[in-house]
Amino acid sequence: MRDVAIIGVSQTKFGELWDESFRDLITTAGMKAIEDANIEGADLDAMYVGNMSAGLFVQQEHIASLIADHAGLTPIPCARVEAACASGGLALRNGIMAVASGFHDVVISAGVEKMTDVVDPTPAIATASDQEWEAQQGITFPSLYAMMARRHMHEYGTTREQLAMVSVINHKNGAKNPLAQFPMEITVDTVLNSTMVADPLRLLDCSPVSDGASAVILCPAEEARKYTDAPIYVKASTQASGTIALHDRKDLTTIDATVNAARSAYKMAGLKPKDIDAVEVHDCFSINGLLAIEDLGFVQKGKGGIAIEEGMTELDGKIPVNPSGGLKSRGHPLGATGIAQAAEIVWQLRGEAGKRQVEGAQTGMTHNIGGTGGTAAVHILSN
Ligand code: COA
Repeated sequence: MRDVAIIGVSQTKFGELWDESFRDLITTAGMKAIEDANIEGADLDAMYVGNMSAGLFVQQEHIASLIADHAGLTPIPCARVEAACASGGLALRNGIMAVASGFHDVVISAGVEKMTDVVDPTPAIATASDQEWEAQQGITFPSLYAMMARRHMHEYGTTREQLAMVSVINHKNGAKNPLAQFPMEITVDTVLNSTMVADPLRLLDCSPVSDGASAVILCPAEEARKYTDAPIYVKASTQASGTIALHDRKDLTTIDATVNAARSAYKMAGLKPKDIDAVEVHDCFSINGLLAIEDLGFVQKGKGGIAIEEGMTELDGKIPVNPSGGLKSRGHPLGATGIAQAAEIVWQLRGEAGKRQVEGAQTGMTHNIGGTGGTAAVHILSN
């Protein structure tokens, strides 16, 4: 296997982008990443695109062909990768495997979702859960995560305020990110007084409905310096699966797919949680920001709430979490998220993250979840 490097990254603004179509978003992200990598479109050997549900959101399937065509990249091989909200993380992993195996040299892994063109995105999002046993019984994503939150509060005494702090910290970081969908600071009180969505989760516990795209360019590590003075190396790329439905889990407060993907990632990289300087976690709801730091091994199970309350996950804390603003503040265009997380970690490791820079960051991690944890992808990157 060859070592792999990231030589270019990009992200479009995330938000409710009325004036940009699905194909515009992904093409813009791709062109920006190509520029960032100092290459030409013609240098690309293959493309992987993470996308959860263009069919339901914009009535378009066969999107890999659409994108290669619109971006002028034909005849390169291109493939869509789908694993619900982890589609981007898996597109990254597929690109890495293609380069590592020697199948392709210069690969673009991208992600895109245009969610705001439908009147109600909730049924489309719910297809990431178990249709027969969850969605068709009326359970939406906020309510699935609400059950996990309730159980964590019951088992470990996690407080409503501690959950709110996950959103507060994300927004504090996101306010420093010009590409974020909701770049405003909020307080615990604003979260606690926002509209109830699924008890105990309120509006400001939820990631928003978003449009956006992101891309990264990969190449063999030994060739990376041909293109850039600041290559970022892939130390681990792992993926694990878990039960799609919540009722099949032994424990509602642990996402096994995260635990397993993280364990393999630390092993592949030869690193421990204490070696990670910054992490982008999948905080689709505030409870998941909390579960993630437990399941990734940064704190003991049950201690996430208190760690967050004590500032461990702040930009200058022991383990800075979501310097980008995370899914909550940066936004969550489903298929784009896993790639945007990698772009943020690359900016952090290059020292290019501006006001949200984690000082001296050398090793970073991304954590991308599909559904309530049917899939998890973890990457460790280093400069
Ligand atoms: N955070 C902050 N503000 C938000 C927001 C969020 N998550 N979602 C919406 N808003 C704001 C809107 O900008 C709007 O503000 P305005 O009145 O000043 O214009 C207001 O809140 C109402 O927006 P609206 O679009 O009507 O909200 P909604 O009630 O239709 O949707 C949620 C809110 C929480 C239900 C929706 O964002 C949601 O479903 N989020 C979860 C998405 C999801 O499940 N993703 C997959 C995770 S696995």
